[in-house]
This record gives sequence, C-alpha cells and structure tokens, in this order.
Amino acid sequence: MEYIVIRGGKSLSGKIPISGAKNAALPLMAATLLTKQEMVLQNVPALDDIVSMENLLRGLGTEISGKLRIGGSTLKLISDDITDTEAPYELVRKMRASVLVLGPLLARFGNARVSLPGGCAIGNRPVDIHLSGLEQMGATIELKDGYIDAKVLRHKKLQGTHIAFPTVSVGATENLMMAATLAEGETELTNAAREPEIIDLANCLISMGAKIKGHGTDTINIEGVEKLNGVDHRVVSDRIEIGTYAIAACITGGSIDLTGCDGSFLKSLIDALRGSGALIDQYDWGLRVKGPTRPKAIDIMTDPYPGFPTDLQAQMMAYMTGVNGASMITETIFENRFMHVPELNRMGADINVHNSTALVRGVSKLKGAPVMATDLRASVSLVLAGLAAEGETIVSRIYHLDRGYENLVGKLNECGADIKRVRS
Ligand code: EPZ
Repeated sequence: MEYIVIRGGKSLSGKIPISGAKNAALPLMAATLLTKQEMVLQNVPALDDIVSMENLLRGLGTEISGKLRIGGSTLKLISDDITDTEAPYELVRKMRASVLVLGPLLARFGNARVSLPGGCAIGNRPVDIHLSGLEQMGATIELKDGYIDAKVLRHKKLQGTHIAFPTVSVGATENLMMAATLAEGETELTNAAREPEIIDLANCLISMGAKIKGHGTDTINIEGVEKLNGVDHRVVSDRIEIGTYAIAACITGGSIDLTGCDGSFLKSLIDALRGSGALIDQYDWGLRVKGPTRPKAIDIMTDPYPGFPTDLQAQMMAYMTGVNGASMITETIFENRFMHVPELNRMGADINVHNSTALVRGVSKLKGAPVMATDLRASVSLVLAGLAAEGETIVSRIYHLDRGYENLVGKLNECGADIKRVRS
C-alpha cells in the first residue's frame, strides 16, 4: 500500500511544468479507431488512465508504440487491423472514458459491444445521452448482461441528424462528434459541451479530414466524410492541473510559476483566485501565481465550461477552509462530489453540507491528520490541505491520484514542499 506523507506549513515557491491534458488525451486516443492510418499524439501525460486506454485499444487490435514518460510522451497509434469491437467490463469499469470508443467503433465498423461503465464515487454517471444520440443516428442499441450492444443495421452507416442534448455532457458531445465524422450527411449537435478538450479533439479530427464547425460553442455542425486520414497532433495543456497548482500557491501563500501553459481556458478560476486576493500574471512562458497571506471568501458554483470547473471544486474548497469569513460552494454537475468534506473536517476544517451546497467557515489553521482519498480530485484537495496544515498529513488510497496527476510529488518537491510517497 502506498501513501503520501506531507509535513505542511511551508510557502511553496518554484516552477512547475504543466503536462498534457488527461481529458483531451483520452478522447484523442479513441479517435484512432476512426482511421486506418497512423495517428501520432505528442505531449501525452504519463498517467494510469492513459495506460487503461492503451490496454483497451490494444485489446481491440490497435497497435501502439511509444513509451509513457514524465514530461510528455509521443504515442503512435495504428488501427488498421481492428480484430475486435468489444470493450470488456474489466477494462471499462476502471475508467468510464472507455465509453468513448463506442462512437468511433460504430462509425467505422457498424458494430460495437461496450460494457456499461457503472457508477463511480462522484455519482451514478449514466451514458443514456450517448446512447440516445447514437440511436437518433440510426444505431440499434440493446442493453444486455451489463453491456451495450450497438449495431448499424439499416443503411450500413450512421445517418447525420439533429441531436439536442437534454443536459450538457462532455463525453456525449465527444462521442457523437466522433461518430458523426464518418456518418452519411450532416449532424448538428445543440446544447453541446464547450470544453477546451472538445475544441482540441475537433481540431485533431479536422486535421484528419473531418468537416466540423462550431466546436467550442453550444452548436456543433459535422458533415460526414468517406474516410479520415492519419495525423500528428499535440495534446493541449491540462487546465485542471494548472488550476490545481495555482491553488497550491494560494493555499500556502507562496509563489509558483506554471510553465508551458496559458490561462486562456481558466478565466473563471483566475477571477475567483484574484477575488480571494491572489496575484496572477500571464507571461509568454506561462502563468505566475502569488497567494495572499489570508484569502478572502469567494462563493463558487460549478457549471459547464466556461463556468467554474467541477474538476476544481474540491481543490477550491480546500483553499476556502482558511478564509476570512465563510464561502459557499455549490456543485451543480455531479450528485455526490463532496466526498472530500468529511476528510477536510478531520483536519479541522468547518464545512457543512446541505444538499448540493457546502458552507465553508474559515478556520485559522488546519491540522495534519491521516485522511483517505476517494476520487481523483478529492484526493488532490487533501494533498493541498496537507500542504497548508500544521503537522503531518498521511493520504491513503493514492492510486486515485495516479490516474490524473503526472509526477505530483516531484512537481511539489521542486517548489519546496515537504512531501513524499512511502510504501507500507
Ligand atoms: C468529463 O466526464 C470529464 N472526464 C470529467 O472529469 C468532468 O468532471 C466532466 O466531464 C464534467 O466536466 C473526461 O473528460 C474523461 P459529463 P463526463 O458527461 O463526460 C450527466 C476528472 O476528474 N450525464 O459532462 O463523464 C452526468 O451524470 C473527471 O478528470 C448523464 O446524465 O461528464 C453528470 O451529472 C471527473 N447522462 C453530467 O451529465 C449521460 O449520458 C455531466 O457529465 C452523460 C452524462
């Protein structure tokens, strides 16, 4: 069993290079299934979720070369000999983004059998919006034995159509956008998600020969083409990682230079941090973030992009535990994304949850304690709290962290944090 041990109370100062975005790399890897030519992906982060997607794609017959290493990897993916169109439960249950192979498999091969992802700690996370969109494009979908059995029976190809999403869904927008690139005719996605990772995926698909317009807005138009070509694409930098380390600077009252990125996709977070008293400046090499001595309270409500990212809610809550006054944090995207609250309260925070809102009353200092990670972003919020707390914090179940943060301990050590990984 591995743990992270932190001795808190130090102001961080130093440089952190930002890695490629996990939530861009995963759909980009799934897009290899849309072409038989070689896809080269640069700046792929070395994360457990990337390994899971590699295993899933290899199981379908994709050839993948290139070693994952810290600092950005180049992967070469070739899916010219797909021997299987089944994504098995043992792989899908580990990472719900596996469902992103469904659209590409249906679009190129006309059939797919993908395990239902099942829920996770932060919520039930159904895929009904993905499935209803594919049915509107002519797929026949059956749910049997925990699997999605999808086929394109009539016409042999998915048919372009107008799909109005009932709620904004990042994954459904990505799945349907990929499916529509090889469909017959034009598809219009309305109430589409606008996340930067979707823009990055669309840009990559366009380089492969797809005809896409409106990506980054709530209406995306895709005109189907016969086939897609290979591509050499660089994964966009990870805005959630940028936000996480910006909050690390703020919660410790330090100053961190975040290199290889810009703040253009993080306006809502930067506005919130500036409101709390942080100084944030953009340079050509990246962002400099200086934390305040005692943060002012800021109210946060998560919202689909460009609103405040749900993936930064837990980290912001850790920061708000030390405010002057009280902060109200409302989670509107997932139904159970406050698992970090009881753990933060064990460190002396004063947080009360009422349905989807948490009231965070500021305390003078958190106290280090043994805490348990429950999901990716909750676990990093406990690390952030440990950096600010007096004494020692031991974070267990850190496999959650390894899914989404490349070299977290190394990057924080570089900024003077007293943090290490230990194996019991
Ligand atoms: C993506 O998940 C991200 N994951 C999540 O990041 C992120 O929190 C989420 O978008 C919201 O921004 C990846 O990109 C790999 P959704 P996704 O579909 O696509 C409901 C992280 O920490 N919904 O936008 O699964 C759903 O339950 C992860 O990196 C349906 O009801 O999120 C949720 O309440 C966590 N039916 C809401 O929509 C569906 O068919 C938004 O989910 C699909 C979604």
